Amino acid sequence: DEVYRGGIAGRRPVVPTAFPALERRARRAMTRRAWAYVAGGAGSEETVRANRAAFDRHRIVPRVLRGVGERDTSVELFGRRLDAPVLLAPIGALDLVSRQADLAVAHGAGEAGVPMIVSNQAGHAMEDIAPYATAGWWFQLYWSTSDDLVDSFLARAEAAGAGAVVVTLDTTVLGWRPRDLDLGHLPFARGLGIAQYTSDPVFARLTRETAEGPARPAPRPTPTAVRTLLEISRHHPGRFVDNLRSPLPRAAVETFLRVYSRPTLSWDDIATLRSRTRLPVVLKGVLHPDDARRALDAGVDGVLVSNHGGRQVDGSVATLDLLPGVVDAVGDRVPVLLDSGVRSGADVARALALGATAVCLGRPFAYGLALAGAAGVAQVTRDVLAELDLTLALAGARSPGDLELASFGAAEPAA
Ligand code: FNR
Repeated sequence: DEVYRGGIAGRRPVVPTAFPALERRARRAMTRRAWAYVAGGAGSEETVRANRAAFDRHRIVPRVLRGVGERDTSVELFGRRLDAPVLLAPIGALDLVSRQADLAVAHGAGEAGVPMIVSNQAGHAMEDIAPYATAGWWFQLYWSTSDDLVDSFLARAEAAGAGAVVVTLDTTVLGWRPRDLDLGHLPFARGLGIAQYTSDPVFARLTRETAEGPARPAPRPTPTAVRTLLEISRHHPGRFVDNLRSPLPRAAVETFLRVYSRPTLSWDDIATLRSRTRLPVVLKGVLHPDDARRALDAGVDGVLVSNHGGRQVDGSVATLDLLPGVVDAVGDRVPVLLDSGVRSGADVARALALGATAVCLGRPFAYGLALAGAAGVAQVTRDVLAELDLTLALAGARSPGDLELASFGAAEPAA
């Protein structure tokens, strides 16, 4: 209603309404590096395309004359009622896209009334972002090789008012991303996206130990990120040096590379989470129904079906195709969220019709940010919510549970 009334009053949207135009305009507004980083995927980017193709295979079957004057898209997640089943996905190193990016995203999310998931790789400390996220926020964790750092991040998230912690499991090492590699570019190596670390007392201690102590062996096997940096340095020696011309002291960079991710992470680590935090725990990157079952056994409070927007395993299955299998495995015991490829309210409707409790928006809000800061994030999000509501109305559904779907063509085989 508000969106259409604005149009009637002659108010022009701050960013294009349709995704293809939004993407085109954002590309023109972004630097080459920012565009490569945000738009790019792993390998041949087959999975980026597969995510979209899956939405094309699942279509809404509208029903008529159902008298749906009022629709209800609200959902309760971890004790908080949300007006709409939408959150903003964690996107790291957004400071590459615009200054103060995470504050603008939080502000935009708050304006649109949706929670933001604050990335472990954000450009601002979670404590600084939290006040802007007026509709709530969750913290996304990459499990460090340092348990002390994990505990510190969790304690900070609790103290700063996070509603949940999202542990991302599909990025224990960074995916093979040709666009970034060709530009000789890893954002964090330039000091971007590491504010959670540089604001952390445990990280400061680890950095002092790196600077003062003798060369110590890494506590766990060398993270692949280091190897990736070395790869880059071989192919693009000049750029590598450029990458390291960051405001960070070398000891902090070295410490970051040593601690930022734990490739050896296993279900045993997840089981310890319950005793480490009071926050609800959501596992991000679950695709196989058996992994969803194990997540329940480990006592988690939610799963997020995600392939990281096709940025990690090229050739990986599309999330929408795997969603029904995960929903079956989980039943109604915990919420099942989905992301990767969601571009519109009609996409959100389809994911909900296939059993998702809520959906996360990724790249679209980053493009809104690139074009118009907080206002762009808010508009992209509001447009998705508005289209979701209209889709329900026109499909004869009072709530997402009433939506009917037809699926065509060969879906990815459920595992
Ligand atoms: C991401 N994603 C991500 N996920 C995460 O858990 N922590 C992070 O720091 C990031 N960083 C990040 C950066 C960029 C540029 C992108 C595009 C994505 C993954 C993100 O949370 C989400 O899973 C995807 O964005 C969903 O795919 P679409 O909808 O963007 O295609």
